[in-house]
Amino acid sequence: MRDVAVIGVGCTRFGEKWSESFRDLFVEAGALALEDAQLSGEKIDAMYVGNMSAGRFIEQEHIGALIADYAGMATRHIPSTRVEAACASGGLAFRQAVIAVASGMEDIVVAAGVEKMTDVEPGASTDALTGAADREWEGFVGATFPGLYAMIAKDYMHKYAMTREQLAQVAVKNHYNGARNPIAQFQQEITLDTVLRSTMVAEPLRLFDCSPITDGAAAVILAPLERAREFTDTPIKVLATAQASDSIALHDRRDISTLDASVAAGQRAFKMAKLTHKDINMVEVHDCFSIAEICAIEDLGFCRKGTAGKFTADGETALGGRIPVNTSGGLKACGHPVGATGIKQVYEIVQQLRNDAGKRQIDGAKIGMTHNVGGTGATVAVHILGRV
Ligand code: COA
Repeated sequence: MRDVAVIGVGCTRFGEKWSESFRDLFVEAGALALEDAQLSGEKIDAMYVGNMSAGRFIEQEHIGALIADYAGMATRHIPSTRVEAACASGGLAFRQAVIAVASGMEDIVVAAGVEKMTDVEPGASTDALTGAADREWEGFVGATFPGLYAMIAKDYMHKYAMTREQLAQVAVKNHYNGARNPIAQFQQEITLDTVLRSTMVAEPLRLFDCSPITDGAAAVILAPLERAREFTDTPIKVLATAQASDSIALHDRRDISTLDASVAAGQRAFKMAKLTHKDINMVEVHDCFSIAEICAIEDLGFCRKGTAGKFTADGETALGGRIPVNTSGGLKACGHPVGATGIKQVYEIVQQLRNDAGKRQIDGAKIGMTHNVGGTGATVAVHILGRV
């Protein structure tokens, strides 16, 4: 297997993008990544595009071909493949691209993600997202994603002594980081009061415990490490790629407030990179709801089970803390265009490792991790990236 490096990255601003179409978003992110790698489109050998539900959100399927066409690659007939794993579609697209380059099958490969979610009514977007759960056992009886994560939060708060304020601190911290990220959907700081007084969505989760509905796209370009310096002075090496799955319905889980697929993918990634959690300088985790970040940092081993609430309230996951979590603002404040999120996480880690993260820069960042979850944890992708 060959070593693989990220040689270029691009990301649109996230938010409600009324004036840009699905294809415009992808083209913008792809062009930014090509420009970053100082590369022309003719050099691209293959593309993997993460997208969860364009069929439901914009009534468009055949996304691999659409993207190749609008990226100007159709006449070169390069392979272009859509990757779908609900909210982990981007993470899996990145993994497929890494595998393609590592195997020697392809040299210069684009991994991208795109979603346009705001063109449908809120009920329709909630129902499309419910497709990531078990439709027969969960969706048909009225469960939504806020509802499923609310059950996880209830279970967690029943078992461990986490306070409502500690849970809210996840959102306060992520909005603080989002306010320092020019591509974030929400760039305003909030207080504990903002979270605790916001509209109840699914008890105990309130509006500010939830990631929003978002349009956006992100793209990264990969190359064999031995060729990376042809394109950039700051290649970022992919140190590990890992993926795991679990039962799709929550009721089949051993413990609903531990995502065993996160545990498995995290352990596999650390083993592949020959690293431990102490080597990681920052991590982008899948905080689709505040409780999801609490579970993630425990499942990945950054703190003991049942302690993440206090760990967060003590500032250990803030900028300057022991392990900064979601420096981008996370899904909560940066936004969550579901198919693009896994690629945006890589984008953020690359910005940090290149020392390009501006007001949210982690001093001396050398190694970062991404954690991207599909549904309530039926698919998890974990990646570790490092400075060369
Ligand atoms: N956090 C903070 N503010 C939010 C927000 C969020 N998650 N979602 C919406 N807002 C704001 C909007 O900007 C708007 O503010 P404004 O009035 O100042 O413009 C206001 O709240 C109302 O927005 P609206 O779009 O009407 O919200 P909504 O009630 O239709 O949707 C949620 C709110 C929480 C239901 C929706 O964001 C949601 O479903 N989130 C979860 C998405 C999800 O499940 N993703 C997959 C996870 S696995």
